[in-house]
Amino acid sequence: MGTGWRGRGGTGARGRGRHGDSSATPPQLFDYISECISDFLDKHQMKHKKLPLGFTFSFPVRHEDIDKGILLNWTKGFKASGAEGNNVVGLLRDAIKRRGDFEMDVVAMVNDTVATMISCYYEDHRCEVGMIVGTGCNACYMEEMHNVELVEGDEGRMCVNTEWGAFGASGELDEFLLEYDRVVDETSLNPGQQLYEKIIGGKYMGEIVRLVLLKLVDENLLFNGEASEKLKTRGTFETRFVSQIESDSGDRKQIYNILTAFELLPSGTDCDIVRRVCESVSTRAAQMCSAGLAGVINRMRESRSQDTLKITVGVDGSVYKLHPSFKDRFHATVRQLTPGCDITFIQSEEGSGRGAALISAVACKMACMMGQ
Ligand code: GLC
Repeated sequence: MGTGWRGRGGTGARGRGRHGDSSATPPQLFDYISECISDFLDKHQMKHKKLPLGFTFSFPVRHEDIDKGILLNWTKGFKASGAEGNNVVGLLRDAIKRRGDFEMDVVAMVNDTVATMISCYYEDHRCEVGMIVGTGCNACYMEEMHNVELVEGDEGRMCVNTEWGAFGASGELDEFLLEYDRVVDETSLNPGQQLYEKIIGGKYMGEIVRLVLLKLVDENLLFNGEASEKLKTRGTFETRFVSQIESDSGDRKQIYNILTAFELLPSGTDCDIVRRVCESVSTRAAQMCSAGLAGVINRMRESRSQDTLKITVGVDGSVYKLHPSFKDRFHATVRQLTPGCDITFIQSEEGSGRGAALISAVACKMACMMGQ
């Protein structure tokens, strides 16, 4: 069985559960997860069985074993004080014990990128990269063992979770950051961190658009120079509006409806400008993200000394799946930046859960073979 917790809702803060909000404590958070597992087991009448569980945890951890990971820091606007520095599998096991109404053998913990890669590998054995463009953004890939310094042995390959969303914390992105990015960063729960992710992820895209719109209003270029209270409120412009505005068929109806719900009275030109802002912000995200993936794939081709690298990338996440043109712009730029590579993209369906379940099945089998 596979389960996951990544702060669902892709487009922002929605989906933080009653207990899973930013002020929760680790026990509350993990009690909530075990409550969800308990409900699931009830629904499927499986409570009497002790099942193996694979846990997808979509945050940076120091993996000390397949079933042990120390949370390094929260990302994507989550915070539960006291969890950082702890083994999240231990926290889940404790919560399950506290409930006491079911038993579960937590056999593996994986990142969502890894689960996505594995679930796609099941269908296509060329899948050696997993990527998420949802609330957050990250990728993993299969690295040659001789390049993996932390583990002994030179044979074969090992999966590396890049946590590339953290890129930029040492100033690497400074020349690309705009005033809007700086505001998004300063007002976030983790200023100075996850700067690359903040340019791409759905947690932030709508807010960047809102800040650009306010700037245009301020310069008297939009809405007759007047913004509504709603537009002035942080976090109101969700990333799903960016997708919906760019999905408008051309009659501006959809754009108009969204803007009037923001208590604005847009002219036709206002609608066109807002669409242009959305396109700029989402295209920049797609291109920035392409640069990351191209870097990873070019590295793989070089370290394998292959003239042509034929590779499949498994992808998941709400921005990738729901935005009308992110995918196409992203694919086109990645291909431009990766000469000598033949890339297939496959969209994962419920990859987080299925990948964790597959990994757990393998972990159980190996444990059996080793007589544990
Ligand atoms: C954040 C997390 C990372 C996760 C990604 C996508 O970047 O730190 O672990 O893979 O979001 O959910």
